[in-house]
Amino acid sequence: MAPRRPLIAGNWKMIASSRHGLALAAELAARAKAAGAMKCDMLLCPPATLIRQVSEAVAGSGLAVGGQDCHAAPGGAHTGDVSAVLLAEAGCSFVIVGHSERRRDHGETSEMVRDKAAAAHAAGLTPIICVGESEAERDAGETLAVVRSQLEGSLPADAAGADTVIAYEPVWAIGTARTPTGAEIAEVHGHIRHRLAAVIGEEAQRTRILYGGSVTSENASEILTTAEVDGALVGTASLEADAFWRISESCP
Ligand code: PGA
Repeated sequence: MAPRRPLIAGNWKMIASSRHGLALAAELAARAKAAGAMKCDMLLCPPATLIRQVSEAVAGSGLAVGGQDCHAAPGGAHTGDVSAVLLAEAGCSFVIVGHSERRRDHGETSEMVRDKAAAAHAAGLTPIICVGESEAERDAGETLAVVRSQLEGSLPADAAGADTVIAYEPVWAIGTARTPTGAEIAEVHGHIRHRLAAVIGEEAQRTRILYGGSVTSENASEILTTAEVDGALVGTASLEADAFWRISESCP
């Protein structure tokens, strides 16, 4: 089976201005064009209002664009929501689902995340399904059980392998400048691969498992060379072109 190509994804969250986002996209697109062949796939996930402009800014650069969330329904009476179909039409090929900030701020359950991931597949998008334990859960020794339950609950029935990405993001590591040790990351990623294989079989070897939570240009190379780590989901450091670019260059 072909090796998994690393994926470096930038989660811009609610970036403070369009001007910042568009400058960032233009700078990264210019670097990608100048670099030619890259060691990884690179993905930018702007807020919904910027998706179309960012897609236009990165056209021809090889950079992909993704949404940060989608509704599970293809359309209808859902004020304020965006469907996977609309994301695809605006230029997305990926969508993040079940980020811990959405599970926290919007009460999203794994069942809801599963339905969003299925909607992403139906629209031709690759969902990036986020899972991860809280600090209290880690302290209680429940990390693997929590991650397993979120993973199995959030995985849609039609998940095949390469059409789905998993992001392991310990909640306590997001935006905190704290990261798990390499051994801790490898343990959780190995567990995720094992559980994926139990559900989807051999195809699990084709699923990319990203690490997310305080990835920086300084710690990227150690994290990206950790066993079973196929890339990173980057928040804060993805808002600075140079830092995000250097993370992509740290891929093995
Ligand atoms: P961070 O965010 O890199 O700022 O920790 C990661 C994420 O929430 O995806």
